[in-house]
Amino acid sequence: MSEQTVFLDDVAAPVRARKVFVKTYGCQMNVYDSDRMTDALSKDGYEATDRVEDADLVLLNTCHIREKAAEKVYSELGRLREMKKARARDGREMVIGVTGCVAQAEGKEILRRAPAVDLVIGPQTYHRLPDALRRAKGGERVIETDYAIEDKFEHLPAPDKARTRQRGVTAFLTVQEGCDKFCTFCVVPYTRGAEVSRPVSQILAEAEKLVEGGVREVTLLGQNVNAWHGEGPDGRPWGLGDLLRRLSEVEGLARLRYTTSHPRDMDDSLIAAHRDLPKLMPYLHLPVQSGSDRILKAMNRRHTAAEYIALIERVRAVQPDLAISGDFIVGFPGESDEDFEATMRLVGTVGYAQAFSFKYSVRPGTPGADMQNHVEEAVKAERLERLQSLLFTQQRDFAARCVGKTIDLLLEKPGRMPDQLVGRSPWLQPVNVGANGSEIGDIIKVRITDAGPNSLFAEAIG
Ligand code: SAH
Ligand code: SF4
Ligand code: F3S
Repeated sequence: MSEQTVFLDDVAAPVRARKVFVKTYGCQMNVYDSDRMTDALSKDGYEATDRVEDADLVLLNTCHIREKAAEKVYSELGRLREMKKARARDGREMVIGVTGCVAQAEGKEILRRAPAVDLVIGPQTYHRLPDALRRAKGGERVIETDYAIEDKFEHLPAPDKARTRQRGVTAFLTVQEGCDKFCTFCVVPYTRGAEVSRPVSQILAEAEKLVEGGVREVTLLGQNVNAWHGEGPDGRPWGLGDLLRRLSEVEGLARLRYTTSHPRDMDDSLIAAHRDLPKLMPYLHLPVQSGSDRILKAMNRRHTAAEYIALIERVRAVQPDLAISGDFIVGFPGESDEDFEATMRLVGTVGYAQAFSFKYSVRPGTPGADMQNHVEEAVKAERLERLQSLLFTQQRDFAARCVGKTIDLLLEKPGRMPDQLVGRSPWLQPVNVGANGSEIGDIIKVRITDAGPNSLFAEAIG
């Protein structure tokens, strides 16, 4: 026996780090939450893995916004159940947890329909995850879906430096959560609870941590991010415009974005920020849902199509370079052909750089579900196709107009070709460029040379 073998034999087998696999559905706020959950679990010795086969703990961070999103969870749980059974035969454990908006909305139902699930945790109680996990391992089927009284953000760990580095040079930062608007189609006020804004000090500290971990671009998140209002260090109430001004003073932070905004919460200070702050990207995601005043009223959006268009004109007046993106719902109960044509006209007037459009999906418990005159599926499908084809044409035209422009590009990740890097334009389109000695995290000047269907091509200059 060689010395080395003796040495190895003497050492106890290393304890295998436990692994957590998180699958994220839905919006950016869920992406942010998944990262915070992973950070919280790392304190208990869990390492993140992107291979479900290796995981001791599997979390599905779910979305309830449309029926399809919610149903996906149950089919995934079916697959996981088989995996868990196979594991048990090998004497290995696999804990399954459901978090996020389906957990909040259908917690008990999940436990009933999916016997393999060990724990269910709503979006306001993630900080109780490590404790819930201990209870689940003791054999309990845990359900935590209270709207926690304590502020979850105070209990969640700030982004970890090493993990931030792995996650890249752009990051999400949730500043506002929940919603008090109660649009008649929407589950968010029920799944995420009442509107809460994080205080400036907490947000600043988190942004600085992200920058220490190499982040150069931060996107502030909220279901109604422009309704954010927090107490400032001066004791005054601040709005999102003030917050963006303060964040643009953070050294090393090169770019700021925010999403999602509600048309009723775009105030003068935020509009002025688009004029004054070079770090604030010229991009505004401003969902309108419909161009018909009758439907907007039934949806409880509390503004008209003309008010929406006037608002966009005001922001464009101070930032002519602005790209507008939006969300649309077709086939809301009672939507006539005429209502739909009003949506098509609004799209024609605004001109979108990007957009997301959906068929109305009935959500149990929302006022829309009890309304009369639901629109037939075939009609919804036909309207969606027409709307999407118009929006796609606008997106392509917008991209074509970018060709020839010179922009500052933040390099985010390797491209598909060797020696190619990918960043995002100020207007959020992916941009491919030859690396030419530049590195991820650099901001370089490029000229856009070509526009493909989903991305731009550019060459470095200077
Ligand atoms: N707070 C944002 C929207 C968040 S939900 C706002 O008020 O604009 C994201 C998008 O999902 C919505 O803009 C809407 O277009 C879509 N959506 C929400 N509920 C829906 C439903 N029941 N059916 C279809 N689409 C829906
Ligand atoms: Fe849902 Fe309306 Fe709130 Fe947006 S504003 S999250 S659509 S209820
Ligand atoms: Fe979905 Fe919840 Fe976001 S319902 S869209 S994950 S807030």
